Amino acid sequence: MRPPIAWVGEAADGHLELLDQTLLPAQEVVLELRDIGGVIDAIQRLAVRGAPAIGVAAGYGVVLGVRHAGACDPAELIRTLGAVCDELGAARPTAVNLQWAVQRMRERGKREPDLAALLDEAHAIHQQDAALCLQIGAHGAALVRDGMTVLTHCNAGRLATAGDGTALAVLYAAWATGTRFRVLADETRPLLQGARLTALELHDAGIPVEVIADSAAAGLIARGAVDLVITGADRIARNGDAANKVGTYAVALAAAAHGVPMYIAAPFSTFDLELDDGSAIPIEDRDPDEVLGFGGMRIAPPGVGARNPAFDITPGRLLAGLITDRGVIAPVDEEGVVRMLG
Ligand code: MRU
Repeated sequence: MRPPIAWVGEAADGHLELLDQTLLPAQEVVLELRDIGGVIDAIQRLAVRGAPAIGVAAGYGVVLGVRHAGACDPAELIRTLGAVCDELGAARPTAVNLQWAVQRMRERGKREPDLAALLDEAHAIHQQDAALCLQIGAHGAALVRDGMTVLTHCNAGRLATAGDGTALAVLYAAWATGTRFRVLADETRPLLQGARLTALELHDAGIPVEVIADSAAAGLIARGAVDLVITGADRIARNGDAANKVGTYAVALAAAAHGVPMYIAAPFSTFDLELDDGSAIPIEDRDPDEVLGFGGMRIAPPGVGARNPAFDITPGRLLAGLITDRGVIAPVDEEGVVRMLG
């Protein structure tokens, strides 16, 4: 499969390529983006998705936005940069990686008000994310043992990052060292990131994967069919409370009730140490039509509405640990988070 994000060319005339994840696995279509509007649209309709990946895409989006404005002196570039960063940073609210990446671009542009420097920073964010994925994998691999069944939710893999992923990086790293296990992928309603993307990735990598309905997870956990749960996150507060794709909290409750360890894997750029706990994490509400139908086909009766929160908060106390690029935080509490990342 093609990488989800690539920049082609130089700062002055290059463009951003995004693999349109809304069409996977049926079609591999690459979007060629040359303006900030295209990047914001791709982020909002989940053509590019996953917390680290939207941060990386936004970095390149800043280059496109500033270039399009055609600033002719450094002061004007800095003014344009501010507006472009504000616009991109607001594209989706929950994943803090987006604001983190945009902030890095803003700071670099203020230090070096030059398009080539901005592209250099976007490349640095891209390359750093790939490296962070490898470090997460290395720290988490030993948690996966031979014969285990591992459950995951949403897609926290190669499509969601610039590297091997977060939760799935742990699985790729364990597999590479010869550990053999199988994976249950929650289908992840409403947009089926698990059934479409996680299943595709793991199947391509030769890792045995079966898709389950989200509503099957608790029953399978209760029957002893799951040994370990690993997911990613979009934002983690100072006390370890973590926002991830809606449905993660239900999995965490079931896992805790039945003594199955659950870990969340995330790079430092997903932590928001300014938030005391998860109650302050903004939750994105998406179009009700995503719930009322699928693939353009209406399922619910006409006239019926829907609620579509895209994320929920898993309290840190339900987690066995947080797997980060710097090591594993266990137990999950403010002291552990601040010691590792503060
Ligand atoms: O709405 P999405 O598909 O962007 O949601 C993605 C998730 O919830 C992922 O689990 C999370 O971003 C971690 S990605 C490494």
